Amino acid sequence: MNQNSINHKNILVTGGAGYVGSHACVELLQSGFNVVVVDNLCNSKTESLSRVQHITGRPLTFYQHDIRDKSALADIFAKEAISTVMHFAGLKAVGESCEKPALYYDNNVYGTLALTEAMADANVKKLVFSSSATVYGASDCRQYSEDLPLGAINPYGRSKVMIEAVLRDLSAADTINQHKSPWKIALLRYFNPIGAHESGQIGEDPDGIPNNLLPYISQVAIGKLAQLSVFGNDYPTPDGTGIRDYIHVVDLVKGHIKAINALEGEAFKSGGCKAYNLGTGQGYSVLEMINAFETVTGQRINYKIAPRRTGDLAECFANPALALKELGWKAEKNLDDMVADTWNWQTKNPQGYIQ
Ligand code: NAD
Ligand code: UD1
Repeated sequence: MNQNSINHKNILVTGGAGYVGSHACVELLQSGFNVVVVDNLCNSKTESLSRVQHITGRPLTFYQHDIRDKSALADIFAKEAISTVMHFAGLKAVGESCEKPALYYDNNVYGTLALTEAMADANVKKLVFSSSATVYGASDCRQYSEDLPLGAINPYGRSKVMIEAVLRDLSAADTINQHKSPWKIALLRYFNPIGAHESGQIGEDPDGIPNNLLPYISQVAIGKLAQLSVFGNDYPTPDGTGIRDYIHVVDLVKGHIKAINALEGEAFKSGGCKAYNLGTGQGYSVLEMINAFETVTGQRINYKIAPRRTGDLAECFANPALALKELGWKAEKNLDDMVADTWNWQTKNPQGYIQ
């Protein structure tokens, strides 16, 4: 690749071998971008990247490095003529973050500092960051808009709040320092990504027993797990179970392509750092998810009602209006698509990626 000038089609994808990152690689390659992945494989396998290339018929470049390794990042920027970074690399297990908070702050917050320092040194200042609805914390609102105050309730969530603050401050410093090329940053706050690529070749491959609802349900359906525990049926919701805004991972990554395009456009002409919710705006309860899964797959889901899980909210769904207005993005796939694609991936890959 060109070593001297930036190629606007060259995207560095941190964490590209993971669940969301691998789907983003497919979407990027299919949209004509060139993809360079950096991933330390702490929660993924290179098989996902082989399959990305198989699905798209296009090659990508892979570096196995930790994003905290600044000199490795400097080498990548020197070599690859990157224009924009999509930053997925991070640890994401809430329970583990409570047991090992320092690990989460080091990996997620310091990792982002190392990345942005390497970016600034290479004068690459366009960034799309994987944030989360978890930054809204235990808000009383049911529907979340971007202007709500932030206040996460566990170390994982706080690492996202901290990273958002770092990125906003980097951008704010541009107005003081009058940089010629200012930071252009989109903070994408995901609601609950589920589903898989329609090919069934890539999907979510949790390590050990899943924490999240959909991977758990599909492992019960395929017989890997015996029974789902429904965490509480006494919430103030119509059926008493928790309500979330589930979003198809392919819709989610399409939002990232829209964000890249927005960073190139008028709205970010003078730089800036803006947050966007990526959700459908529609909530479904745990029991509704079980019903949808049973209907689409024809499998019965064995479940029991269990106590509430600490830290869970009754209800949370996105106001996705800003992403529609400013990015021209909205989710298009429905619940049946999400469930059918989850099941297609699960049945084609009962043991996940085997390598
Ligand atoms: P994932 O674990 O499947 O992917 C993350 C990838 O980053 C993995 O391939 C992992 O090996 C890599 N990685 C982690 N730390 C790294 C480091 N220091 N250096 C290099 N590579 C590193 O997770 P995902 O579900 O694809 O999530 C991607 C991002 O989106 C994460 O930042 C996560 O916090 C965020 N997010 C995910 C969800 C969700 O439900 N999946 C919801 C909200 C936000
Ligand atoms: C969880 C994390 C959140 C993270 C998100 C995506 C917690 C408290 N929150 O959100 O920080 O951003 O995953 O990774 O862990 N449920 C069951 N049984 C299960 C699993 C879940 O009933 O075995 C219920 C939950 O109580 C909740 C819903 O299903 O009502 C969705 O749970 P989950 O998939 O874990 O997502 P969140 O709790 O929204």
